[in-house]
Amino acid sequence: MTTGDSPTDAQAPLGNLEEWEDFLKTRYPEPGSNGNGSKTFQAIDPEKKPEQFRNYEADARPSVREFYRLNHRHQTYDFVQAKRKDFLSLSRRRMSIWEAMEFLNTLVDDSDPDTDLSQLEHLLQTAEQIRHDGHPRWFILTGLIHDLGKILCLFGEPQWAVVGDTFPVGCAWSDKIVFHQFFGENPDRSEPHYQTRTGVYAEGCGLNNVNLSWGHDEYLYHVVKDYLPPEALYMIRYHSFYPAHREGEYQHLMTEQDKAMFKWVRDFNPYDLYTKSHQKPDVAKLRPFYQELIAEYFPEKLSW
Ligand SMILES: [Fe+2]
Repeated sequence: MTTGDSPTDAQAPLGNLEEWEDFLKTRYPEPGSNGNGSKTFQAIDPEKKPEQFRNYEADARPSVREFYRLNHRHQTYDFVQAKRKDFLSLSRRRMSIWEAMEFLNTLVDDSDPDTDLSQLEHLLQTAEQIRHDGHPRWFILTGLIHDLGKILCLFGEPQWAVVGDTFPVGCAWSDKIVFHQFFGENPDRSEPHYQTRTGVYAEGCGLNNVNLSWGHDEYLYHVVKDYLPPEALYMIRYHSFYPAHREGEYQHLMTEQDKAMFKWVRDFNPYDLYTKSHQKPDVAKLRPFYQELIAEYFPEKLSW
């Protein structure tokens, strides 16, 4: 963490950022998995009845619960405007993609008990799985870079302003957003113009005109938006927008193009959630392939 305005421990309930992703995996188990990591090699489980679904909120770790409480309390419309103004000038650093990967790798938090991979190894593992499945080169590159926005943590941002399922601010919160009750502490609750179905937006205005809660998706989108195909940009910008891509909410703010492009966000999601394993990628061996792939799309240095 940086000095100065570093978040206090009270602002950092998670031992590591993967605790949030582990919670997502519990909430959205991999099809064909039995919920504790081992695969049954079945696309769906025909035996699973609705009453067998776990109560994810009740079962969440206290740290995860506290993380969502802070996120839902503090992600207000005004907060998002302030962060956009602060970060989207992209005036903090000039770095190559690989330098940003190495910078993210300096993010040292409590080790994840499920995997002992570094941030850089996580990125390579996601990209390698996409490559293994025969997807196009831009898709592989997207897997490699999709979480680089987490460097916000290294700029001193609290966990709840870097990760977490994203949602629109300035309009009513979908009741499909996990831990919805914590919005009771959000000051936007007392702003009637933020509490209607469309809020400050117009019906069908398009997600490009909607401000989501602030985090690593939106930040990275602005860093890379001039260099990747639109499908990749949707994956990057909306990969944490679970209320939309997993719950089907907020269609009324989308254009037809948004709805069509969410196919790609959904195609990407399994690689984001389910590729973590104990198998360490060989960074030195993989580096030349990925350096070449990065150079195919990006200039040497980008503004962060
Ligand atoms: Fe992410």
